[in-house]
Amino acid sequence: MDDLREKYLGQIGGAADESALEDIRIAAVGKKGEVALKMRELGKMTPEERQIAGPALNALKDEINSALAAKKAALADDALDARLADEWLDVSLPARPQRQGTLHPISQVTEEVTAIFAEMGFSVAEGPRIDTDWYNFDALNIPGHHPARAEMDTFYMHRAEGDNRPPHVLRTHTSPVQIRSMEATGAPTRIICPGGVYRADYDQTHTPMFHQVEGLAIDKDISMANLKWVLEEFVKSYFEVDGVDLRFRASHFPFTEPSAEVDIRCSWEGGTLKVGEGDDWLEILGSGMVHPKVLQAGGIDPEEWQGFAFGMGIDRIAMLKYGIPDLRAFFDSDLRWLRHYGFSALDMPTLHGGLSR
Ligand code: PHE
Repeated sequence: MDDLREKYLGQIGGAADESALEDIRIAAVGKKGEVALKMRELGKMTPEERQIAGPALNALKDEINSALAAKKAALADDALDARLADEWLDVSLPARPQRQGTLHPISQVTEEVTAIFAEMGFSVAEGPRIDTDWYNFDALNIPGHHPARAEMDTFYMHRAEGDNRPPHVLRTHTSPVQIRSMEATGAPTRIICPGGVYRADYDQTHTPMFHQVEGLAIDKDISMANLKWVLEEFVKSYFEVDGVDLRFRASHFPFTEPSAEVDIRCSWEGGTLKVGEGDDWLEILGSGMVHPKVLQAGGIDPEEWQGFAFGMGIDRIAMLKYGIPDLRAFFDSDLRWLRHYGFSALDMPTLHGGLSR
């Protein structure tokens, strides 16, 4: 028994980890371990012998078990100490400046636009970027043969033969969200919808994916005058100037009647844009009164309701406000560009606190 004690206590003391301990436990005090085998021998002993050997074997078993438990606890302590030493971290050190991310100008401008329109009672609606050609075209009074379909350089989704789901496109504008939000909330409604849109086009001012913000206001007595006021308020707030001159230019969109493109007065002295002064005009958006057929497609009675809509390029107004010359750089993920044109992630644009600071 002394040999057994010495052997197993020695092994336990030298065990390197929990699985080694478990092997020792099975060999020593397991059901078929050495101590159990010894216990079986008790039956062959005389009662006198048994009275000595029995308690001694039980004591040995207890001793081995408590040595195992003590070693297990010690191993766990060691492991914790090693982790604590390894994962030590000085939380009082300053953050490394090169790790600070920035907010992309598109995110910043989207926040600015949202803050401005929120103040005027517009909520934010969203729609899918992959939409049916019905939402993207037909419901907006652009029938199949209409030249606007070709003009928009539409990306059509591939369709397998025999697929009879409606054809899908990458939305070419945010206008399909007009229909979706009419369906969802009915009239009256006041929403903007910022988001990505797609057209097959690529040069300094065009990328195959870009961003628009749609506006839609429907009520009983909405007119072009309301549209003009809302846009004036928007442009003043967005460009952070006291006064602006807006010019409505007659235009054509299938989904608005009448339609107007909106220009703002500006100057380009020395290559920098100044909004609100000068003799140049800058086109910033398309707009008009929602076409009765479009209201109908959205499930709204045009005899009872009317409204205005507009669509504006987010990337475009970002380039104008922040003097960014090439649209393609927006989507290059160049860290130097992001550091230069990016915004602090913690400054939320608000009208009272300042939009861009
Ligand atoms: N969807 C139009 C475009 O992408 C913009 C627009 C929206 C015009 C709403 C009028 C009304 O060019």
